[in-house]
Amino acid sequence: MARSSIRLLIAEDDPGAAEALKAAFDSEGYEVLVAATGSEARERFAQGPWHCVLTDIVMPDVDGLTLLQEFVGTAEAPPVVVMTAYGSIDRAVQAMKDGAHDFLEKPLDLDNLRAVVRGAIAGRESEPANRAARTKDAGQKILVIGESDGMRQAEARALRVAPTNATVLITGGSGTGKELFARLIHRQSLRVRAPFVAVNCAGLTESIIESELFGHVKGAFTGAVRAKKGKFELAHGGTLFLDEIGEIPPPVQVKLLRVLQEREIERVGGEEPVRIDVRLICATHRDLEAMVTAGDFREDLYYRIKVIVLRLPSLRERPEDIAGLLEHFLRVANERNGRNVKGFGAAARERLLGYGWPGNVRELEHIVEQAVVLTEHDMIIDADLPEEITGDKGPQDILRIPVGTTLAQTEKELILETMRKAGGNKTKAARMLGIGVRTLYRKLEEYGEK
Ligand SMILES: Nc1ncnc2c1ncn2[C@@H]1O[C@H](COP(=O)(O)OP(=O)(O)OP(=O)(O)O)[C@@H](O)[C@H]1O
Ligand SMILES: [Mg+2]
Repeated sequence: MARSSIRLLIAEDDPGAAEALKAAFDSEGYEVLVAATGSEARERFAQGPWHCVLTDIVMPDVDGLTLLQEFVGTAEAPPVVVMTAYGSIDRAVQAMKDGAHDFLEKPLDLDNLRAVVRGAIAGRESEPANRAARTKDAGQKILVIGESDGMRQAEARALRVAPTNATVLITGGSGTGKELFARLIHRQSLRVRAPFVAVNCAGLTESIIESELFGHVKGAFTGAVRAKKGKFELAHGGTLFLDEIGEIPPPVQVKLLRVLQEREIERVGGEEPVRIDVRLICATHRDLEAMVTAGDFREDLYYRIKVIVLRLPSLRERPEDIAGLLEHFLRVANERNGRNVKGFGAAARERLLGYGWPGNVRELEHIVEQAVVLTEHDMIIDADLPEEITGDKGPQDILRIPVGTTLAQTEKELILETMRKAGGNKTKAARMLGIGVRTLYRKLEEYGEK
């Protein structure tokens, strides 16, 4: 056999399988080395460079996932293809998150395996930056805050459908977390290392949305000076998130339906259909069923996209989640703005907990960030909150302090609010509070106020 410069390391403890794998790649002209245990694979790896590593997961000593983590952490970081037993989807997901190039389920289809390894080796030179970026992205955890039944159920459902290829329709009011859940599903799927591409369909004209989704060839229309890939192609192997799907104009709905049926797209002005492998997640705040009845949304498309429906409850339906979200976004806002605001005053908290949150989590996030940036104190007080929360009577003069608040805390809030009311004039504030100016100075100093 002619020595090839392409070196493949295979870790497989089953002698029969190892033999078959070696034969399959010998015939490709690769230099193949088979390690029969995980620790042997580790030793052999050190005798690199390797262009690709193919590893089984379950091995008696060191398992394939451990090897994967070690190998992708090295400077060379060759692509690692993982072989899993049929049905062990959790491990496959883990492998993809840990940076595997791909995974294949046993029993293996050798032609497919050869194609995957060839692709891994070919892709290696061209996309190291890409790989690193994707791996980094894959490592970031998506936090879903909320202990309410509604949130727990939505998360459990999302995690259950994530590893499948099922089309998911996410419904919910604005700011309820539709995009967050779409990303969560992608992140927990086997597509985790391929792109997640989001398209907002709102406000785009028919022709723009068509070329956005399907791309166009050079000269397809005036202004198409060069060819452009559509989002379907960019999401190939990964997940396409179509936000505000209800806004897609009827002629594009027809085309979308055809893409979902045929699994191929046609670029605007193009002749050749292009095969695509994309998992679709759609979101809308509209009532699609009503739109179908009204004739604004195609019924056949509706049935295609609502295979799995994930409804996200509004914050008003789950007020018990507000407190946790406040703490979470306080932490986030502190970090993002280099602040160290410690918490919410009792009166401010009372307002925030009782508010209706028409803009849901997004509104809550913004209001907390605004207050963190604007507050002059080490906690957020009533005066730091916008009018829509404190009522529209202008700056509020009433503190609602819940029973259970300590006297010290109550005193602090009353003093800070009085200072605000007095426009920062300490003499005036002291008079309103019925205390001496010196006492007021001392208190403010205690609070760390200037
Ligand atoms: N349960 C949650 N836990 C933590 N963060 C959340 C949660 N729900 C939403 N968020 C955050 O709130 C913000 C708004 O969420 P997202 O963009 O997913 O909402 P949306 O439903 O897509 O909103 P819109 O309808 O306005 O597009 C994001 O910053 C998101 O990370
Ligand atoms: Mg959104």
